[in-house]
Amino acid sequence: MITGAASTAASLRALPSRAINELRRDRRAIEKTLAAAMGSNGTRIDSAARHGLLDGGKRVRPLLTCAVLRAFGRNPKPYVDLVVAVEMAHAGSLLHDDVIDESKTRRGHVTAHVEFDIPTAVLAGDRLVMLGVEHLARGGPSEMLVRFCAAVKDLCIGESLERERRFDSTVDLEQVREVNRLKTAALFGYAAEAGAILAEAPPRLRRAARDYGLAVGEAFQTTDDHLDFCGDPGAMGKSIGQDLVAGVVTVPLAIAMERSPGLREDVLRVWSTERDDELSAHLAKLREG
Ligand code: FPP
Ligand code: MG
Repeated sequence: MITGAASTAASLRALPSRAINELRRDRRAIEKTLAAAMGSNGTRIDSAARHGLLDGGKRVRPLLTCAVLRAFGRNPKPYVDLVVAVEMAHAGSLLHDDVIDESKTRRGHVTAHVEFDIPTAVLAGDRLVMLGVEHLARGGPSEMLVRFCAAVKDLCIGESLERERRFDSTVDLEQVREVNRLKTAALFGYAAEAGAILAEAPPRLRRAARDYGLAVGEAFQTTDDHLDFCGDPGAMGKSIGQDLVAGVVTVPLAIAMERSPGLREDVLRVWSTERDDELSAHLAKLREG
């Protein structure tokens, strides 16, 4: 016979694999819904949008909505058409971000603006964001659409602030965190809150879900910042050192410059050099620091 304590311990041990299986199931439903939503009409913009939405991606944001729905005891399946809107906006924003950052690879593939051209990638990004709006407008609660639009507007502000602050070695940690909260965490905050809205949770719990999503999103972007210094380009599907070369002060760099003010000089040297060998040497030095 299993005692109460033993059965609790057994169900706790079972929880991670059960949760993982549920997430796997949710992910399959998300992939299927995204593929069906895209269709294919053979146009250039359509191919670029498919490239942005369907060629890889962890689907973290819609999975966060599913996890919150499950936390409120709801099966995400009936809501998947609404859940995927966040991934559409995210994929659209990455098409734009790769143009802004002049990135050559994403998710192990050549970026859309390189494979097609800049206007096609930008228009495909616009189309994906509107596809997300359409999904929510068709069958979602109006509050969800309002929160979605607010988050996408925050993304634009964050991306713009990051751009304004490039090549400024006086940018501090709080300014970097402000950008990360806007350009990344806002959509995670929306994703978590969307789960609470769909579960018809009371306002207090909707706000709690949003705060949780914001914290997850900030942690996610901090990790992304860190990987730009120390990641494995093969595993990440994009090259490293991109932020630094692009003049962006990220979380690890802001912390390192606060701790060792002398580092600001090295950073300015990285930004002023055009030689690849010098750049690699500076990057290696900063990574060690
Ligand atoms: C990746 O950051 C980019 C974002 C998290 C947000 C991009 C937002 C926009 C371009 C504005 C919104 C645009 C639309 C169409 C809604 P990163 O460059 O730090 O990460 P990366 O290394 O993956 O490129
Ligand atoms: Mg980028």
